[in-house]
Amino acid sequence: MTTIKVNGKDAGLDGVPVHTTVLDWLRDRGLTGAKEGCAEGECGACSVLVARPGIDTPTQWTAINACLLPAASLDGQEIITSEGLGKSTALHPVQQEMAVRGGSQCGFCTPGFVCSMAAEYYRPDRTATTAEADRTADADRTAAADGACAHEHGPNGFDLHALSGNLCRCTGYRPIRDAAYALGE
Ligand code: FES
Ligand code: FES
Repeated sequence: MTTIKVNGKDAGLDGVPVHTTVLDWLRDRGLTGAKEGCAEGECGACSVLVARPGIDTPTQWTAINACLLPAASLDGQEIITSEGLGKSTALHPVQQEMAVRGGSQCGFCTPGFVCSMAAEYYRPDRTATTAEADRTADADRTAAADGACAHEHGPNGFDLHALSGNLCRCTGYRPIRDAAYALGE
């Protein structure tokens, strides 16, 4: 029997055709937060979180493009969708910051952004102090001046590169960046 855990509940994968994507499988089950934008790994609208348990390290949550992956390939693994973040009585911190900072307008991209942002929010070593982040920013600026690839980090250690796979047609990105940088440790 092949199973997968979705938002804390076990679900069977027996009989699911091998070509069925995680995105189609989730949406057929009523989990319609993840959207199909491009269906080819370009837009991030379909992003969900997959657990990557470590042996000596904490579980790492990775955002994946659900439109590209066959559901059957996640046998025995665990998924969190945008519906599984937060509680019925309270938004997840990522959802909260996106809401109060205007990071969502039409909302089509929002579940995907929320999942990518949550993956970075939970990154075990995202604990940079403001001073460390400032040093990182200085190093990034130096690297950028040298023509090297540089990632922009927020004062909370948030690596903006974590959102590079998500596209938004509405917000202009600044409110989304502000939401990411406002997240606590
Ligand atoms: Fe999956 Fe666009 S729908 S990346
Ligand atoms: Fe409309 Fe992002 S809020 S595409």
